[in-house]
Amino acid sequence: MIGKIVGGSVGEKVIIRIKSGERVDVGDILIAEDKETKEKFFLKVVNINISSLIARQFIEEMAGQNLESGEDFEIFDSQERFYRLCEAKVLKIKRDGKFYPPRTIPNFFTDVRKIEKEDLDFIKQEGEIPIGHLRLGTKKVSEIKINLPANKLISHHMLVVAATGKGKSNFAKVFLSGLLELGEYSAVVFDPHNEYYGGKGTKGLKHHHLNNRILYISPKAREIPGAEELKIHVEDLEPDDFFGIADLSQAQQEALSLLKKKYNENWIKHLLEEKIEKLIEEFDKKVSGVTFATLRRKMQHVLELDESGRGLVFTIEKREDTSIYNIIKQGIKQRKIIIIDTSSVGEEAEKIIASSILNKLFTSYRYAKQKDEVEFNNLPEVLVVFEEAPRVLGKEVLAKGVNVFEKIAREGRKFKIGLCAITQMPSLIPAEILSQMNTKVILGLPAPADRKAVINSSAQNISDEDVEIQILDMGEALVTSPFVKFPLPVKIFKFEEQIKRLQKDVPDIAIG
Ligand SMILES: Nc1ncnc2c1ncn2[C@@H]1O[C@H](COP(=O)(O)OP(=O)(O)OP(=O)(O)O)[C@@H](O)[C@H]1O
Ligand SMILES: [Mg+2]
Repeated sequence: MIGKIVGGSVGEKVIIRIKSGERVDVGDILIAEDKETKEKFFLKVVNINISSLIARQFIEEMAGQNLESGEDFEIFDSQERFYRLCEAKVLKIKRDGKFYPPRTIPNFFTDVRKIEKEDLDFIKQEGEIPIGHLRLGTKKVSEIKINLPANKLISHHMLVVAATGKGKSNFAKVFLSGLLELGEYSAVVFDPHNEYYGGKGTKGLKHHHLNNRILYISPKAREIPGAEELKIHVEDLEPDDFFGIADLSQAQQEALSLLKKKYNENWIKHLLEEKIEKLIEEFDKKVSGVTFATLRRKMQHVLELDESGRGLVFTIEKREDTSIYNIIKQGIKQRKIIIIDTSSVGEEAEKIIASSILNKLFTSYRYAKQKDEVEFNNLPEVLVVFEEAPRVLGKEVLAKGVNVFEKIAREGRKFKIGLCAITQMPSLIPAEILSQMNTKVILGLPAPADRKAVINSSAQNISDEDVEIQILDMGEALVTSPFVKFPLPVKIFKFEEQIKRLQKDVPDIAIG
């Protein structure tokens, strides 16, 4: 026994007096067991106070004496008079082997103990994607592995948030490794730092033992065996790929739609190569020369095209072989994890690459659902991983128009497409979009505005965990989700170690 209940109320916190010499940290999970009702309360420590029955002024005086005169003092019954109180929230109540929401609290003087492995046996039955060990405060519990369920969780979207260097990309790689093991899901990862596939010095998904189901697409594919070249022919682009992504006025957006209507797949080619006077004439002066000239400049800039209409990724050349979109579609059908290296293009080009790929993916899933149920049922749930998500889901961008990322956030669930939005600054994303991200993997977040945005949009109440979220260290996470029983404190696996573990294929991985 480490403490006793001394106060509290439902909906607030319970107060526990801690036995002298016992150590309790914020984030610890404790058990209060009512001997009469046999109810087991799962409590989570959210704050710790030092307290005393002696009035504060006497304590100050005693400290002063000791400081100023060096005089030592003996306190009669000091262990009883000076003690720690901890505030804890009730996570769940277990009664007759079942879990219930916290509608009551334990009584005065109920014994409180530390959690034991057996108390957490139920966590093992949850899910199939191992992400880390249970964490109590800062201590990892090596015997208990935490899994997330893949089914549904993916298409109900995920948010991975943390300050820089706290382990967002590491988590994403660990999660993707788990998806690979399962073999029924697919993912599309947009990788602006080229850190997911792995290279000579760095470990990535290519070091996973099932790397034959990874498809790597890069502008530098020629140097890498098995990789596909990231090449996009502008004839495959649609005006929609630019809306809500590129900085375009209303008039410019309308002009793009008109161009598409008139020239079909050659719309960008005409915009880039036709004489401006000719364009004005062709459109009966409905579009001004200035608009065409500006659009032409923007198009060249965004797609990073040179004078001849060629760039690293985009080109006006006619497509001769299979488009990259078909290669991706094939990969998804084969349950592959597709990594798209956008590290050598600028941010604008990267966003257009992602938006055009996702528009085609979204359309094909939606079409399948409407037209061909058998085909739709055969398609895997697919997770779209996007780093620095406010670039496409920020309030500022979305004010300019709906883009495909927002469409997926709002409706993707119906079509088995989930978003894994990674960001350092969730406060930049509109609240409604944040609350669509049902599963949140929260690593350390020092900024109050960001914590508030995440806490307010979580499926489970985590307002008491504000302090914990603030002080989470690298790789320490709190995972909230409608698909887990309570917000799970986790120490995320280090990716490099996890792929070794998966390779050894230790049997307890599936259950632990
Ligand atoms: N769970 C973990 N266990 C051990 N080390 C970790 C863990 N998570 C991250 N690290 C280490 O911390 C460093 C930063 O991790 P990572 O790149 O994932 O951070 P990030 O949040 O994606 O940062 P950035 O904002 O720069 O993208 C890496 O060297 C990684 O190996
Ligand atoms: Mg990162």
